[in-house]
Amino acid sequence: MKRPVVELVGTGRCIPRNVLTNADLEKMVDTSDEWIRERTGIRERHISTADETLARMGKDACEQVLEETGLDVAEIDSIIVATASPDHLLPSQACDLQATLGATNAAAFDVGAACAGFLYALAVAEGMVVTGQAKHVLVVGAERLSAITDYQDRSTCILFGDGVGATLVRTASNSSRGIISSYLKTDGTLGKLLCRPGGGAVQPPSEEMIEQRTYFLRMEGRQTFKHAVRKMADACEQTLKRAGMTCDDVDVLIPHQANLRIIEATAKHTGIPMEKAFVNIDRYGNTSAASIPIALDECVREGRVKEGSNVLMVAFGGGFTWGSMLVRW
Ligand code: UT7
Repeated sequence: MKRPVVELVGTGRCIPRNVLTNADLEKMVDTSDEWIRERTGIRERHISTADETLARMGKDACEQVLEETGLDVAEIDSIIVATASPDHLLPSQACDLQATLGATNAAAFDVGAACAGFLYALAVAEGMVVTGQAKHVLVVGAERLSAITDYQDRSTCILFGDGVGATLVRTASNSSRGIISSYLKTDGTLGKLLCRPGGGAVQPPSEEMIEQRTYFLRMEGRQTFKHAVRKMADACEQTLKRAGMTCDDVDVLIPHQANLRIIEATAKHTGIPMEKAFVNIDRYGNTSAASIPIALDECVREGRVKEGSNVLMVAFGGGFTWGSMLVRW
């Protein structure tokens, strides 16, 4: 087993106050609470108001991490934000957050890897710490998916929610803590199955874009589902293999919260009992890059992840991108 040199320490989250329930959605599109719960496991999701920007929510989550680690904001060398729904297209979300947080010594940038973004960002942060580029890196998963969700499309609008989660990456305080192994993968040929066709340089904002609603997220749900199940299980297997460990060594599985049925299938194929899998999709829906750091924060605060726990995180999303990371807490 690789000796951990980089650790995750401290967690934080910020969830918008407003709740959108399945009953609320019944009034907006042709759906039912029963269908949503049976097909996805979701009961409600949180939706941000205009003043709950990702910069503000990110500041809140990061300040919890700073408080827990005892670090001053001036000691942060880098901020990496994983997001697919930034407050602005330019500058990056991380720049906005750096300014709002007052992290004047931090280099800040975004990572775009959709729902797998937080794991990609952790891997980048690990590299920065290992090479000495940074000592303390705030890694944030932040989404306001409500801003890019089509509330006329029942196949997607029931899924998504808003929120932010954060952690800190630094040199491990001892060799038994930290990142043990990871695995990242992409298949760009499948990009169209989950995408936003309009709003970029190929299809800049136009009346047509508004009329055809191409600015919003689109997903081929059934196909995405199939890939998600296969690839999340494979990512878990590869990560465990790289660590020289087995499913029995995993104390807590933190899967990206896209669909309860995907979580159950991932746990089953990986050989991890559902009791070890953390689920909060019922309360938050799919918050893309924010889902794993929000779940991690809840696990740590509830005592499900404690000192010495082997935590296996796994995600799959637009790109398609997917990945997994094994961490000893
Ligand atoms: O985070 C990134 C990764 N995301 C995912 O991995 C999500 C993957 N996909 C899914 O979670 C599921 O595919 C969905 C929850 C999106 C859809 O569930 P499904 O079991 O795959 O349903 P489906 O798309 O096969 O649709 C079945 C039926 C269709 O009706 P017909 O054609 O059988 O008459 C849909 O029109 O359900 C219908 N339907 C709905 N009915 C009520 C689709 N959305 C809804 C809805 N309420 N909201």
